[in-house]
Amino acid sequence: MDMFVVRGGQPLAGHVRVSGSKNAALPIMAAMLAVDGPVRLHDVPHLVDVRTLLDLLTRLGLQHSRSEADQTLELEVVDTTLCLAEYDLVRKMRASICVLGPLLARRGRACVSLPGGCNIGDRPIDLHLKGLRALGAEIQIERGYIFAEARQLRGAHIFLGGPFGSTVTGTCNLMVAGALAEGTTTIESAACEPEVVDLGNFLNQLGARIEGLGTPFLRIEGVPSLNAAGDDYRIIPDRIEAATLMMAVAMTGGDIDLENVDLRPLTAVVEKLREVGVTIRAMGNRVHVSRQGALRPTDCCTLPYPGIPTDVQAQLMALLTMAEGMSVITDKVFPDRFMHAAELVRMGARIRREGPSAIISGVSRLSGANVMASDLRASAALVIAALAGEGESAIRRIYHLDRGYEQLERKLQHLGADIRRVQDCPENIPASLRPEWSEVEDAEHTEKLQQFVIPRPHLFDRSESRVQRP
Ligand code: UD1
Repeated sequence: MDMFVVRGGQPLAGHVRVSGSKNAALPIMAAMLAVDGPVRLHDVPHLVDVRTLLDLLTRLGLQHSRSEADQTLELEVVDTTLCLAEYDLVRKMRASICVLGPLLARRGRACVSLPGGCNIGDRPIDLHLKGLRALGAEIQIERGYIFAEARQLRGAHIFLGGPFGSTVTGTCNLMVAGALAEGTTTIESAACEPEVVDLGNFLNQLGARIEGLGTPFLRIEGVPSLNAAGDDYRIIPDRIEAATLMMAVAMTGGDIDLENVDLRPLTAVVEKLREVGVTIRAMGNRVHVSRQGALRPTDCCTLPYPGIPTDVQAQLMALLTMAEGMSVITDKVFPDRFMHAAELVRMGARIRREGPSAIISGVSRLSGANVMASDLRASAALVIAALAGEGESAIRRIYHLDRGYEQLERKLQHLGADIRRVQDCPENIPASLRPEWSEVEDAEHTEKLQQFVIPRPHLFDRSESRVQRP
């Protein structure tokens, strides 16, 4: 297993290119199960999640070849008899659920493992199943698998709103299913995320008839097949990676240029960053980001698009730990997505959880620490906090980060950050984070450790049954 060792305190400077969007690439790749003929996808990022999905798609009869020279991925179905998505792969990545709609629509049946829960909270798929049932699918859940069958899906009206808004991957599944259903499908309360629009544009290029993309009301006229003949399609830039890099420079100070950024779907984030003191200027698909003065506190709430995405909540929290004053972040999409808060506290942040909100009292400095990443975006939050912190940090379990950021450490190194990927073993933990170092080099820190962390019998006064102040 790898970890990052980061030495903080270096302002970022320079320019990097933002990769293609993970959340757009995955449903588009899965939709290829419903397409006849080959497609060449451009700007598919090199990520563990992409490799996991390619493994799954291979088992489902899809052939692929990747060209490193021009960053393309060619995909084509070669076997239409396979329809089992097994637990061993689905459990690694929830987006595997995106194969359900395409399999059912094109092959008439699908057996897909239920993905299970994850570190950011409950992740039900009831809305996906409700929509597919409305289109005529027979669905049963047995022994952890979804068994779905439909000789021919038929258009229907589907309301896709849930207690936390719409569903992104649910809308993707239903768009592909509706595209090949007989008649007209209307989806009310569809997800409006740019990644959903990207899938819709892709399907329309191959003959689908989907209207209303980017709005909560989709109208889909079913077509008999989706056909490709070596079509080319370019995946949109990753707005979450762009936002993460913006927040990195907002935390460390300095100024950077980001290439391959579309700021339009980032309006809510950009507005919030400007409010807290970040300068952001767009020039075509290039964006200049800098921060000189102090960070100001703010209140913010994650919402479905066009609100602030839940996928930047952790990074925003890291940023606000260093804003002077009190900030509040509420996550209305995944109200339990706060595992990173405790790790940021280990770096000196002051954060209190209140239900779906976190209350952050800004501190003037964070200090390096040994921290554990709990999910993809939490990892990114810890990395940017470590870049701004004093001293060294060890960020463990970065396999989460590798799922969704393409070469993040190389990009940060290119911007002047002191970040290294090393094997996670005791020898590679920075000396400053090992207790034995403290004894030699930092008597004050050792004193604190001994008095407050290491239990010592004489600190406990049995007669009064309470801990004595040392
Ligand atoms: C997608 C993104 C993920 C992002 C999330 C929210 C991909 C591959 N992943 O995940 O990065 O954090 O959108 O923007 O694109 N819900 C239900 N019933 C359902 C489905 C969802 O109640 O059937 C709830 C979820 O628990 C959550 C909310 O709806 O509270 C949004 O979930 P959803 O949009 O489905 O997330 P994903 O598509 O899994």
